[in-house]
Amino acid sequence: MADRPYTLLSCSMSIDGYLDTATAPRLQLSNDADFDRVDEVRASCDAILVGATTVRNDNPRLLIRSADRRARRIELGMPPSPMKVTVTRHGQLDADANFFTLGDAEKIVYCTSAGATEVRRRLDSVATVVDAGERVDMQGLITDLGDRGIRRLIVEGGRTILTQFLTAGLADELQLVVAPFFVGDSRGCRFVDDGQFPWNPDHRATLADVRQIGDVVLLRYALSTRFSEPDYPGF
Ligand SMILES: NC(=O)c1ccc[n+]([C@@H]2O[C@H](COP(=O)([O-])OP(=O)(O)OC[C@H]3O[C@@H](n4cnc5c(N)ncnc54)[C@H](OP(=O)(O)O)[C@@H]3O)[C@@H](O)[C@H]2O)c1
Repeated sequence: MADRPYTLLSCSMSIDGYLDTATAPRLQLSNDADFDRVDEVRASCDAILVGATTVRNDNPRLLIRSADRRARRIELGMPPSPMKVTVTRHGQLDADANFFTLGDAEKIVYCTSAGATEVRRRLDSVATVVDAGERVDMQGLITDLGDRGIRRLIVEGGRTILTQFLTAGLADELQLVVAPFFVGDSRGCRFVDDGQFPWNPDHRATLADVRQIGDVVLLRYALSTRFSEPDYPGF
C-alpha cells in the first residue's frame, strides 16, 4: 500500500466564516492575485477534490490556468492539470459539467453502492466510477488515491467535504483565505459543520504562515507532522 497523499485543504471565507451565500450567484471571496496563488498551489498537486454539490452549484473547471505552469508540469512528466476527484451518494451529476468535459486528466467519482448504478449510467463514459461501499469514507478514499499514484491532494470544499477531512484528522495543511466582508445570513454555507475537531482550546493548531494578498489574508495552518513545502519546485 502506498503512503496516503499529502492532503492540503484550501478555501476562502468571509470574516464571519461563510464559504458562500444561500443564493446564486456564487460569492466572489478572493481577488485576482489570490486566484493566481491558488493556481500555483493546484499546479503542485496531483489531484483536486471537491464535493458533488460544488460540482453542481459552481460548475468549476478545475484546470491550471497558467500556460507556464502547465508547461512546467509537462516537463516534470505530469499531466497539464491535476486529476479531478468528486464524491456523491445519490449520483445526480451531469456528464456535461465542466468537471467532466474540460481537461484531459483523469476524473474519478467515488460513490456509495446505493448510488453506483445511477452514477455509472450517467458518468461511465466520462469518468472512472469507484463503488466505495455503504459509505464513502475519506480515509478509504485517500488510501485509494495513494494507490493510484496521487502524492499530493488539494481538497477545495465545500463545507461537508472539508468537515469530514478535518474531523477525521486527515488534513496535513489548511490554507484559509479571509475576505474583507461579512455575509451576515445564517442560511449561507459555513466553512464547516458542527463536529469534533482535533484542534480545540486545549489543542491549538500551529499557525505556520500569514500573508496579506491585496485585500485578503492567507492563514496557513500546519495540521500534522507531515506539514511541508511541495516537492515540485518552480510553479
Ligand atoms: N469559498 C470556497 O473556497 C468554496 C470552495 C468550494 C465550495 N464552496 C461552496 O460550498 C458550497 C457547497 O458545499 P456543501 O457542503 O453544500 O457541498 P459539497 O461539500 O461541495 O458537496 C456535498 C455533497 O458531496 C457528496 N458527499 C459528501 N460527503 C460524502 C460522502 N462521505 N459519501 C458520499 N458522498 C458524499 C454528497 O453528494 P450527493 O448530494 O450528490 O449525494 C453531498 O451532498 C457551495 O455553495 C460552494 O460554492 C466554497
